[in-house]
Amino acid sequence: MSKTRRVLIGIGGGIAAYKMAEVISTLFQSGVEVRAILTEGARKFITPLTIATLSRHQAYTDSLFWEATHHRPLHIELGEWAEVFAIAPLTANTLGKLAHGLADNLLTNTVLASRCPVLLAPAMNTEMWAAQSVQRNWQLLLTDPRYHHIGPGSGLLACDRVGTGRMAEPSEIIPSIYSLLHTGGKEDLAGKRVLISTGGTREHLDPVRFIGNPATGKMGLALAIAARDRGAKVTLVHAPITSAIPTRIQAIATVSAAEMREAILTHFAQADLIVMAAAVADVKPAAYCPEKLPKKSLPNALPLVAVPDILAELGQLKQPHQKLIGFAAQTGDIVKPALQKLKDKKLNAIAANPIDLPNVGFGSDRNQAILLDDRGGEKIIEPCSKLQLAHYLFDFILD
Ligand code: CTP
Repeated sequence: MSKTRRVLIGIGGGIAAYKMAEVISTLFQSGVEVRAILTEGARKFITPLTIATLSRHQAYTDSLFWEATHHRPLHIELGEWAEVFAIAPLTANTLGKLAHGLADNLLTNTVLASRCPVLLAPAMNTEMWAAQSVQRNWQLLLTDPRYHHIGPGSGLLACDRVGTGRMAEPSEIIPSIYSLLHTGGKEDLAGKRVLISTGGTREHLDPVRFIGNPATGKMGLALAIAARDRGAKVTLVHAPITSAIPTRIQAIATVSAAEMREAILTHFAQADLIVMAAAVADVKPAAYCPEKLPKKSLPNALPLVAVPDILAELGQLKQPHQKLIGFAAQTGDIVKPALQKLKDKKLNAIAANPIDLPNVGFGSDRNQAILLDDRGGEKIIEPCSKLQLAHYLFDFILD
């Protein structure tokens, strides 16, 4: 991240506490300053030594809190320091205390003594999660705009039950923390529907051979996470991708440009904001053979036909309240062709991104772009994570 950001982690007493080692390590390695509080329960599952080693900083426990070895009360100091406070695993006990403003340990006192956004990742047995008292507390907690959440998901729990209560994975928690660092908890897409396309379409010649491209869908997934974390309802129409679909995102799987077009047109009218990040094929084989063609039957030259330009079609259908955003993956001069596409496809904005530079573009976790809009606006985004670029794009559009 461009400047050192400060994340406070609160670890509760649950078996999922071990996952926080990965969260803390990943945050630290990306340049984030991390401090962590362990409850007494957490100490039964993971040691302060593990957390201190990974965060390169002393881990805070209740014994330190009550011993008053600090010149200022620890909960005030940590509360003022944190830009984002992530509590994971959030146990039923801590959840209940937070819902009612109770504070009897370092973690809960620090929540009350801080003003930053708080990310909650609950983890508990299915019956506990479903208990009326827990659900009542949870709903009460979520009425406070300060609290954001990720999970719980479903799966095999440590009690050998399969059901809801599993803590979100580090791969879900970490992007949510980055989103909160970017937005400060502001949900400026609340009530909006965002339609995003991603991945590289495949135009099959037969069941095993296709015309494709190296897109992996990472940019569109980052856009989906960013839009979700800014409060939008997100629909993601994707070509084949290998990454998991993030939670709270409606995903529609497609393969060819024709399938993608159909799915997008189905959801287009309800969308307020549409971002076409997919690398859509421009052509397809003129004929499709439903049986695998033997090598000797493959043609020497492949007749091709054009596929419809989905974005250009959306530009024609666009209503005044809708915003249409495209991507232009370019080599060489990226601005001129992107401006031409912005105009030709009647877009509100376009992200011109270079694909001929090292460590950015197709398949990479990083990207860079020049954002352009239909009013002559231009913003240069230096190399950054795809999630950051996604947030910069939404900032640019909503500005
Ligand atoms: N796009 C689309 N349907 C297509 C081709 C492209 O919706 N059949 C969209 C892409 O998702 C992207 C934008 O149009 O948002 C620009 O795509 P790009 O491949 O850069 O441009 P093309 O219009 O295909 O032009 P060219 O390949 O000549 O650069």
